[in-house]
Amino acid sequence: METVVSGIRSTGKLHLGNYYGAVQNFVRMQQEYNCFFFIADYHSLTTHPTPDNLHGNVKQVLVEYLAAGLDPEKATLYIQSEVPEVAELYLFLNMNAYLGELERSTSFKDKVRSQPENVNAGLLTYPVLMAADILIYKATKVPVGKDQEQHLEMARTFGNRFNRLYQNDYFPEPYAFSYAKQLVKIPGLDGKGKMGKSEGEANAVYLADDVETIRKKVMRAVTDSGPSQANQEKPEVIQNLFDLMKVVSSPDTYTHFDELYNNCQIRYGDFKKQLAEDMILATAPIRERIQEIESDTAYLKKVAQLGTEKARASAARTIKEVREIIGFRSL
Ligand code: TRP
Repeated sequence: METVVSGIRSTGKLHLGNYYGAVQNFVRMQQEYNCFFFIADYHSLTTHPTPDNLHGNVKQVLVEYLAAGLDPEKATLYIQSEVPEVAELYLFLNMNAYLGELERSTSFKDKVRSQPENVNAGLLTYPVLMAADILIYKATKVPVGKDQEQHLEMARTFGNRFNRLYQNDYFPEPYAFSYAKQLVKIPGLDGKGKMGKSEGEANAVYLADDVETIRKKVMRAVTDSGPSQANQEKPEVIQNLFDLMKVVSSPDTYTHFDELYNNCQIRYGDFKKQLAEDMILATAPIRERIQEIESDTAYLKKVAQLGTEKARASAARTIKEVREIIGFRSL
């Protein structure tokens, strides 16, 4: 069975776009592949979080992914820093990663521009750690978005370079993977495109948002002055809200408002009220599970322990073989 690895940023709560996109990808992959999903807390150190923030974020992310359907029995769900073997592979791969290629990475150049006061070596070698995350399980499939393509290309480069140096074919090539063609796109509330947190808090509805916050965000969503001709094409801001309704509401509700729009009788206030209530209903089970899991420390501990055990068993095997290949042999 093919192996899948994906790292989850340890900052950032899940919004509806993540839930109906990446998370559904993961939930499906865990049925079909040998999956390793981890919270990338080593990576997060590049931004120097306080100990309390680091810990709180890791817990929050673990809780939300469990609530959203990741199954620790099916997938190996773990916290990156609990598997120190990955740091050792990172060290080895760093010996054959070159300054020039690391400096050319787009994500690094972006950071140099956006945070010139904190251009640390961890940022420079971020793609090497990511390669280690993947190669340590000899994974071939990595469910990530377009923005990670270049990192994956670097992972292939580092793996192939190791293979060439030691004249073997130890590491397979990892490639980006997604069921994307079948996934729904979730627009944001600002009418400008995808739901995302970089677009500002109000653009995204989070799984952990309380009911009142969801209502407020939806009621504030951008609309226009309304249709002036029967059956006219919907402008993007309106189409986006209809797309959201298609995901969370019943087909009857959708058709009802679509007809009102087409007859020029739609009242956006009513439309958004309905959208908000249906969004609240659709996310209620996850909100409940978040609260349940959050307060169940014993369960969280068990999940983390199980993940660590499974991940370390596999990672330790790789490290043992890699040390042997490199020439670290017992005397
Ligand atoms: N760089 C990824 C992101 O920003 C997170 C990540 C770290 C990752 N290590 C990984 C993703 C390994 C896939 C595989 O989203």
